[in-house]
Amino acid sequence: MKLKHLLIGALIVALPTTALATPIVIKFSHVVAQQTPKGQAANYFKKLAEERTKGRVKVEVYPNSQLFKDQEEMEALQMGSVQMLAPSLAKFGPLGLKEFEVFDLPFIFDSYAELHKVTQGPVGAKLLKKLETKGLIGLAYWDNGFKVMSDNKPLRNVADFRGQKMRIQSSKVLESEMRSVGAIPQVMAFSEVYQALQTGVVDGTENPPSNLYTQKMHEVQKYITLSNHGYLGYAVLVNKKFWMGLPADIRKILEGAMRDATIFANNVAKKDNDDAMAAVRKSGRCQIITLTPRERAAWKKAMDKAHKDNMGRIGVDVVKEVYRETGYKP
Ligand code: LMR
Repeated sequence: MKLKHLLIGALIVALPTTALATPIVIKFSHVVAQQTPKGQAANYFKKLAEERTKGRVKVEVYPNSQLFKDQEEMEALQMGSVQMLAPSLAKFGPLGLKEFEVFDLPFIFDSYAELHKVTQGPVGAKLLKKLETKGLIGLAYWDNGFKVMSDNKPLRNVADFRGQKMRIQSSKVLESEMRSVGAIPQVMAFSEVYQALQTGVVDGTENPPSNLYTQKMHEVQKYITLSNHGYLGYAVLVNKKFWMGLPADIRKILEGAMRDATIFANNVAKKDNDDAMAAVRKSGRCQIITLTPRERAAWKKAMDKAHKDNMGRIGVDVVKEVYRETGYKP
């Protein structure tokens, strides 16, 4: 053997095996901007996963619907074209997992503390388990926040909603919520909302401030009502076959990285939303409406219909379990 070959051979032996092995790639697709709570948490998970596996895992994050839009990303995960997602809990109905729409019930959570009783307790764990029937595993819940209502008309009284076309996520509960106040709901992918508002295809929508601000929706809406009438958050999903097929040591490291990314996500969510709302205010582009307790109570009373109408769909047991945790009273 020539000296050159011997040297190359020695070099290969000397290299750590991790440098030679092709990394396991996790494609993580999502629909929001990188500065949102979900965007930041996805990037943080990537950092931890790559550092802790010493490069054996590579996480490719695709934000802002770059790779897939709402509905497409769920299909892509089931087919294995992506390995990780964190869809909004309001988007599980079309998969046949209607129980998750419990999170969309208006006024069901008054605070993050109440929400965490569910997402960090036995009810949340039971719901995640149901994903396995669809070939998925739910690794964690990531917080976003409480929604404001935006429109080109001031929405203060229930009657103000009459005839307003409102974009919603693909949830029957949100459909009922909008109908309960006389609005006309329209399901639409997140990536299309800005343009739909700009061109008047819809009049308004609901979002946590972090989503509203990072998509510049405040530039195409005249009014924002600080209603906190509902919650929007996520479950981090992986394809079960992919996840269970990972080497056990890698899976363990990734589970640890996910635990820490979840703590991070839930720590930044409230502040990100507060900061986003402050930035919207500062922009001076929208008039901000604060509801009196009486006005807010009138929204709650009207929207309670969404609870009644969807008990059967979500499952009475699940709804009652969440009521028990949060103390919801109509
Ligand atoms: C929406 O479609 O409004 C949200 O689900 C987007 C997101 O992922 O926060």
